[in-house]
Amino acid sequence: MDLNLRSVRQEYTKRGLSRNQIPDNPFLLFEQWLGQAISQEVNEPTAMLVGTVSPEGHPSTRTVLLKEVVDQKFVFYTNYLSRKGKHIAENPAISLSFVWHELERQVHIEGFAKPLSPTISDEYYHSRPYKSQIGARISPQSQPIPSRFKLMREFVKESAKWMGREIERPNNWGGYEVEPIRIEFWQGRPSRLHDRFLYEKEANNSWKINRLAP
Ligand SMILES: Cc1cc2nc3c(=O)[nH]c(=O)nc-3n(C[C@H](O)[C@H](O)[C@H](O)COP(=O)(O)O)c2cc1C
Repeated sequence: MDLNLRSVRQEYTKRGLSRNQIPDNPFLLFEQWLGQAISQEVNEPTAMLVGTVSPEGHPSTRTVLLKEVVDQKFVFYTNYLSRKGKHIAENPAISLSFVWHELERQVHIEGFAKPLSPTISDEYYHSRPYKSQIGARISPQSQPIPSRFKLMREFVKESAKWMGREIERPNNWGGYEVEPIRIEFWQGRPSRLHDRFLYEKEANNSWKINRLAP
């Protein structure tokens, strides 16, 4: 099957980004942009594409929800034995990409991921809905499974087991914090002459800022 999508195109005209709107600290701009994505009802504003690299050097991405930004680190939760979890265990290099189409904006982050402490993962795990806590216990994320029926049977069995008790977080489920070394803000502009600003972390913990060609 061939597809010709050459005429599917759109001009980006909503707003611009200039050097005098750029704070020294990229987290301030990230907070502002994420806040606008939430208040302007972008669909899934906290969804980000998480990129990891396999031991063989193959990149892969999947969508994950950002849950917190703490101490200048981006936090998400997942299964440590999933495909991404195995990649991170071998190579903590990671990328996070937010695309807010409604705002004609994207943010690309590169850095290194580290598992969160069990105490912090416990705290978040127990804040999740009951059924999500059960789901995290019974789903061998990224592994082949025989059927949906088998998954549902495990779910029902596990739910009955924990009835009326606090559910234990499984050791293979928890959070990662991502410490960024590079953050790029992209604002779509007419004629593909977009605004791009790149922050790169310097040795003294300050950020070098450059405008990039679109
Ligand atoms: C909108 C959206 C949000 C998601 N949020 C998460 C999440 O927070 N954690 C997670 O482990 N998977 C999440 N997923 C599922 C992942 O995209 C992915 O299927 C799963 O983590 C397994 O990825 P892996 O096999 O590459 O490790 C989400 C998917 C979508 C579409």
